[in-house]
Amino acid sequence: MIDMTFDMFIETEVPENELIISRTDLKGIITYVNDTFAEISGYAPSELIGQPHSIVRHPDMPKSTFKEVWQSLEVGKSWSGFIKNIRKDRGYYWVEADISGIYKDGKLVAYKSVRAPMREDKKIQMQKYYDRLRKEEEGNVRVVMYTTSDKLDQLSKF
Ligand SMILES: Cc1cc2nc3c(=O)[nH]c(=O)nc-3n(C[C@H](O)[C@H](O)[C@H](O)COP(=O)(O)O)c2cc1C
Repeated sequence: MIDMTFDMFIETEVPENELIISRTDLKGIITYVNDTFAEISGYAPSELIGQPHSIVRHPDMPKSTFKEVWQSLEVGKSWSGFIKNIRKDRGYYWVEADISGIYKDGKLVAYKSVRAPMREDKKIQMQKYYDRLRKEEEGNVRVVMYTTSDKLDQLSKF
């Protein structure tokens, strides 16, 4: 449990020249991922397909951001914004995401998302913004703590 907390501070950088692509059905269940998505998230494609997209949801992300995403999609609009995602190993990666509908004969049949890397200063700005939103919405504050291994052993007993 304690080890997992520490892995949460390890960032995976999205390479400059690659896009992370996924598709979902209308309920947000993943139906396709490209190889870059699998690599960045630390999962095999087969572990992602069939799972809800919230499999990569990071606890630092406020609820209202995803409410906004789904409200846009429901009225036929695309959503663009910044998302911090969690990896299989509990590390994280930031992306600038564009989420939109896929239409067939004018009918909405699925959703897709294309994500690109983010600038370093934007990540810091968004982390602060999401920390504030989460605090306002849920009273949920992120705590970063430095300690000694002795104290950590004691803490892990709770
Ligand atoms: C095409 C598409 C891509 C999405 N990409 C992400 C994503 O990268 N990270 C994420 O946390 N949620 C993503 N979502 C939103 C999730 O479906 C979900 O609403 C979110 O993780 C919050 O989880 P919850 O609805 O269970 O609270 C995406 C949704 C769609 C339709």
